[in-house]
Amino acid sequence: MKIIAPSILSCDFSNLGTEIARTHQTKAEYIHIDVMDGCFVPNLTIGPCVISSLRKYSTKVFDVHLMIEEPIRYISAYRNAGADVLTVHAEACSDLKATLLAIRESGAKVGLSIKPKTDPKTILPFLSLCDMLLVMTVEPGFGGQAFIPDAVENVRFLKEELRKSGLSVPIEVDGGITTETIGTAAKAGADIFVAGSAVYKKPDIGKAISELLEAAERS
Ligand code: DX5
Ligand code: ZN
Repeated sequence: MKIIAPSILSCDFSNLGTEIARTHQTKAEYIHIDVMDGCFVPNLTIGPCVISSLRKYSTKVFDVHLMIEEPIRYISAYRNAGADVLTVHAEACSDLKATLLAIRESGAKVGLSIKPKTDPKTILPFLSLCDMLLVMTVEPGFGGQAFIPDAVENVRFLKEELRKSGLSVPIEVDGGITTETIGTAAKAGADIFVAGSAVYKKPDIGKAISELLEAAERS
């Protein structure tokens, strides 16, 4: 079962509520929300108050991607705002175990992400604490970038490690996902596919989501 997670980073931010509501009748199961602090990544986006306002526009899973330094400081704020999954970056946490446990404690699903150049071996000790892994297929910070094919090796490696450990943790990929690139990520073992431009920059987002899903499932 593959899942498409449209990223609202590519939305019209003056109409976020209606942009999210546009996914109601589509096959997307998640809404991916990119939180950036201008520190971990060179861009600024969404705080908890915005997520809290958006919560009433959708019953889909709010998949919140925290691209912020020391996210442990904000776990309860984002959970209380309505996050269902909270994903943190291994590179951004001085105490990764405590951060993952804080997410677990909050009641949200626990996500752990790595940037394309991060050695995936560094997160092996933490796999059993996670409900989802997020493998970045672009450098985090901006939508609309080109997919980095080499990052797929991280998906392949982590999928195999999860299998060897007997863990059934889905792998999400994020960045440059299109109908052309999604198959490569799916073949490597990805289960959940974030897509910003490939959804929200298309005139018919329902059709765009269905086409992505079909391309992923064909692979
Ligand atoms: C980038 C974000 C992505 C971004 C993806 O740092 O994490 O979620 O919105 O956008 P596209 O699909 O356009 O690459
Ligand atoms: Zn993201």
